[in-house]
Amino acid sequence: MKTILITGGAGFIGSHVVRLFVNQYSDYKIVNLDALTYAGNLENLKDIEDKPNYIFEKGDITDEAFIFNLFERYDFDGVIHLAAESHVDRSISNPLEFLKTNIFGTVILLNAAKESWKDNYEGKRFYHVSTDEVYGSVDDGGFFTEETSYDPQSPYSASKAGSDHFVRAYANTYGLPIVISNCSNNYGPNQFPEKLIPLFINNIRSNKPLPVYGKGENIRDWLYVIDHAIAIDLVYHKGKNKETYNIGGFNEWKNLDLIKVMCKVMDEKLGREKGTSEKLITYVKDRAGHDLRYAIDANKIMNELGWKPSLQFEEGISKTIDWYLENEEWLKNVTSGAYQQYYDEMYEKRD
Ligand code: NAD
Ligand code: TYD
Repeated sequence: MKTILITGGAGFIGSHVVRLFVNQYSDYKIVNLDALTYAGNLENLKDIEDKPNYIFEKGDITDEAFIFNLFERYDFDGVIHLAAESHVDRSISNPLEFLKTNIFGTVILLNAAKESWKDNYEGKRFYHVSTDEVYGSVDDGGFFTEETSYDPQSPYSASKAGSDHFVRAYANTYGLPIVISNCSNNYGPNQFPEKLIPLFINNIRSNKPLPVYGKGENIRDWLYVIDHAIAIDLVYHKGKNKETYNIGGFNEWKNLDLIKVMCKVMDEKLGREKGTSEKLITYVKDRAGHDLRYAIDANKIMNELGWKPSLQFEEGISKTIDWYLENEEWLKNVTSGAYQQYYDEMYEKRD
């Protein structure tokens, strides 16, 4: 039986990756390591927490002694590293936290893998899950390819670029077997309501203002989170050593257009008069250093690994809105902070 470490598995994307691996690979033991920051929520994994091939470990990737001990205890065959600080606005107010978790934490994991695998890299793999934001902003109508030079503009993207560079440096310097993927903006169930889509769904539902940064002209390329999880499975199992794969849905939306679609769909779903939710749109001060456009060329993963997004955006956004409307309790718990008691109730008492 192979033992795989997934970091950040209680977060948005990580929870979908953990679920997919636990359900799909009964011959893998999946260890989910998560510090349960404000973004980590074990309620996201309620349906699989009792599966025999799933283990949760609460811990911080920046805690060197804990991480080395974890690698000793489990003798991992592979690592899929998602744990990170992930929100650009938070990185603007607290860059150091991003440096610490995203760069320092990643280097601790790299050291632990190198030490644990002791140059015997047969069958081992360190997979770093990264973002398209490392490439900066493509304002001229082009696309990010795997050859695009890094040009990060926010403290978040600078920290992800730094961690990508360290991962490649460990492959180059120590021969560590690695793979990296850089994905566009994800949306779907379990996303903390600070990012655009879940925040706006929540605000529309509660008739609160929708804070559009600047003129709402920035463009993002949106991918349904389960399509990202499927891509991660493929890259982990079939991606070539030392390669990078860009993941994206060829699905660009200007923020304002996307917001108007959400307003329209939610008016219909909530039985509100057409145009009601759009009235909540409120233009606010632009984000500092706001990247204008992200656009991924995903041809490499499509052609080499046979991946393609399974959902059209209209279907994905409708499913996502339904999920948040049906999971009001989840939203209430994460917005009030009550979800953080879940670990204490479900895990600490059990031990
Ligand atoms: P998230 O913020 O929802 O989840 C991050 C998880 O990491 C949380 O469960 C948190 O508790 C955990 N974590 C944070 N600091 C930790 C630490 N020091 N030790 C252990 N665990 C810690 O993030 P997400 O949106 O699911 O993103 C996951 C990964 O995918 C990140 O690396 C992010 O950069 C990358 N990514 C995200 C997107 C996106 O659109 N959300 C797109 C591309 C890539
Ligand atoms: P976000 O979900 O924070 O993702 P990222 O910054 O990583 O792309 O933001 C998506 C886009 O929406 C981005 O252009 C910023 C914009 N935005 C708003 O206009 N208002 C908001 O309240 C938020 C959170 C984002």
